[in-house]
Amino acid sequence: MTTVEKAKEGLEDVVATASAICYLDGDRGVLAYCGYDIHDLARSATFEEVCYLLWHRRLPTRAELGDLQSQLASARRLPEPILRLMRSLPPVDGMDALRTVTSALGLYDAEVNDASPAAQYRKAIRLTAQVSTVVATWGRLKAGGGAIAPDPVMGHAANFLYMLTGERPNATATRAFDVALTLHADHELNASTFAGRVAAATLTDIYSAVVAAIGTLKGPLHGGANAEVMKMLLDLGQTASADRVEQTIQGKLARKEKIPGFGHRVYRTEDPRATHLRQMSRDLGKRAGNTAWFDMSERIEALVKTEKKLNPNVDFYSASTYYTLGIPIDLYTPIFAVSRISGWTAHILEQYANNRLIRPRADYTGPAYPQRLVPLDQR
Ligand SMILES: CC(C)(COP(=O)(O)OP(=O)(O)OC[C@H]1O[C@@H](n2cnc3c(N)ncnc32)[C@H](O)[C@@H]1OP(=O)(O)O)[C@@H](O)C(=O)NCCC(=O)NCCS
Repeated sequence: MTTVEKAKEGLEDVVATASAICYLDGDRGVLAYCGYDIHDLARSATFEEVCYLLWHRRLPTRAELGDLQSQLASARRLPEPILRLMRSLPPVDGMDALRTVTSALGLYDAEVNDASPAAQYRKAIRLTAQVSTVVATWGRLKAGGGAIAPDPVMGHAANFLYMLTGERPNATATRAFDVALTLHADHELNASTFAGRVAAATLTDIYSAVVAAIGTLKGPLHGGANAEVMKMLLDLGQTASADRVEQTIQGKLARKEKIPGFGHRVYRTEDPRATHLRQMSRDLGKRAGNTAWFDMSERIEALVKTEKKLNPNVDFYSASTYYTLGIPIDLYTPIFAVSRISGWTAHILEQYANNRLIRPRADYTGPAYPQRLVPLDQR
């Protein structure tokens, strides 16, 4: 494949739609939701404020935020048949469970086929509330525990950790998780959001569009990378020497294996989300009295930067961050969805509001036309 052909294959730098949600400048390392810099949002906003921002293109007032919090609180609990379905599933991968259960959620939503903007918005809120409950509950069930009902007085981040562990999370864990949700909430036309928009552009229902997005996020080139990072760190082992880390990474690069958590289609600088996650991984490790995973991650970052001039992306330091928060690896990619559901639904609503079927063309490279059709008994 020539360089031009390669770029075309991945729709690299192709502008496929107009959108008012996410501003991304890969050369300057800028990410902003509706004009608000990700660094400011990570420092000073909560995930619920970010949801409101993505859906309404402006930050909420205190009263508007209160309304949204109540709407999320009343939507968080899962319908009983969904809990039964979850209990009946085999112990599959978290993303497979999430994809199946999200599809089933649509079966119990009386408004599933109501295409009015007000109903679509209510469904965006319900999906955002319930995807979190599904992922936390799946973590409980897979660990052999019972489902824990959401607590209506806790915020979104705290509720997730509570439903997962059964314990009220401390302020540090809650804030770290909340920031992680903010950082993952939207990223312009990433593969899963694009998939969601393509589905929505057929005017299918929002659940179907979100299921398309979840299936796309699962891949190791996209959201699946965070779990792959942690598996790589665990394979090396907490006590791995600097030499062993170096040999392993050099070996992977020599075999032309991709190092999970590095590289990005758009950023030519550091991924601004990685800056926060690196800091978070360091701080949480220090508080927990174990910086081994952070130290190893830093060593790998230095090696990959030197050898390949590649920067870590959002998935690299989220791995050690989630590990230190005690989250099972099987939930890392589903947690990406717990956050990105806000961006997916914002884009899907934007697509519905100004829709045209997305239907590109392909360069035909098959056998020459026309071929003579030889009847079956003569072939
Ligand atoms: C994110 C990603 C899919 C972007 O892909 P892309 O824009 O198509 O870039 P390419 O895969 O064509 O990579 C360009 C070059 O960098 C190399 N490269 C990219 N990411 C790499 C990585 N993580 N480790 C080692 N080499 C990498 C490629 O091998 C390629 O080298 P070449 O030109 O010598 O063949 C890619 O960087 C990747 O697979 N990263 C690992 C998975 C990951 O972390 N995904 C999460 C993204 S947020």
